[in-house]
Amino acid sequence: MTQAPVNVTVTGAAGQIGYALLFRIASGQLLGADTPVKLRLLEIPQAVKAAEGTAMELDDGAFPLLAGIDIFDDPKQAFSGANIALLVGARPRSKGMERGDLLEANGGIFKPQGEAINAGAADDIKVLVVGNPANTNALIAQSHAPDVPAERFTAMTRLDHNRALAQLAKKLGVAVTDLKKVAIWGNHSATQYPSVQHAEVNGKNVAETINDQAWLADTFIPTVAKRGAAIIEARGLSSAASAASAAIDHVYTWVNGTPEGDWTSAGVVSDGSYGVPEGLISSFPVTAKDGKYEIVQGLEIDEFSRQRIDASVAELAEERDAVRKLGLI
Ligand code: NAD
Ligand code: LMR
Repeated sequence: MTQAPVNVTVTGAAGQIGYALLFRIASGQLLGADTPVKLRLLEIPQAVKAAEGTAMELDDGAFPLLAGIDIFDDPKQAFSGANIALLVGARPRSKGMERGDLLEANGGIFKPQGEAINAGAADDIKVLVVGNPANTNALIAQSHAPDVPAERFTAMTRLDHNRALAQLAKKLGVAVTDLKKVAIWGNHSATQYPSVQHAEVNGKNVAETINDQAWLADTFIPTVAKRGAAIIEARGLSSAASAASAAIDHVYTWVNGTPEGDWTSAGVVSDGSYGVPEGLISSFPVTAKDGKYEIVQGLEIDEFSRQRIDASVAELAEERDAVRKLGLI
């Protein structure tokens, strides 16, 4: 081991995503093969015993990079000293629900967690919100952490980004690594806009190469945007391993950077770029460098993209207004 352990707090540790996520963190995939980690697990009191069971299995993995595991049912303790916080713990939707239907049920979780992060997390804290509705939950947590730079609060749209890569790679008969500059804009919801306007396949424009606007508009976009519901329909449960994998990707990229000539997608606090109201946590194409996500600037936005981005951002503004009414921000 070449450095001191990084404290990683994971909420909802006894849940489905937690079970898929924790072993990958312990194996070094979140931060890299040279970085030891200490896990700080947060659960509700009824689920602490199950989290203890997962911790026993983590022990049994004898992971060389795993420097310790602590389990809490109090957010203040769980976030104390946290360098990375993965806010997963929240109720998932079931068949027939939209993610926005979870606002009231889950919104209440993120206020005390934001306060606890503000009170005790490490100065370099980075927060990823996975629990749905992820963008607005991130906004709630961020608004209760006034002493933490707002840019440290992010919401997960990397799963949508990965879904878009997978659909395009299949359609084009290429590897996902042949694709660059795909982007998810807006909300992690059915209104999201998976965009290929600037995307490239082996250096050529994706839309021109596919040459089938109807497929892009009527198949690709809804397939990606409604993939979460399709997984729930097929599995009877919401996505878990793919969500955990995307959370690993999001944090790994945040810490280690994006490759030259490419970007990824993340829900980050808007600075007003591309007409997205300042303060909303919206997905954008982003690069990462020196431990910071930055919105890609200067992209031309065509009319089709403009309408889709505006529709999803309007939904984010409605969610913000709804949580304001509920007294959550
Ligand atoms: P799950 O029900 O299996 O697990 C959730 C866990 O969170 C449970 O163990 C529960 O006890 C715990 N929990 C509830 N309230 C808590 C609190 N206040 N503090 C700490 N822990 C708490 O659900 P899951 O399948 O693991 O999904 C978790 C969340 O992630 C859901 O909201 C789901 O919709 C969301 N999700 C988001 C994405 C994304 O792309 N952003 C993808 C998949 C799932
Ligand atoms: C997903 O996209 O799979 C998750 O957000 C779960 C859901 O409710 O769709």
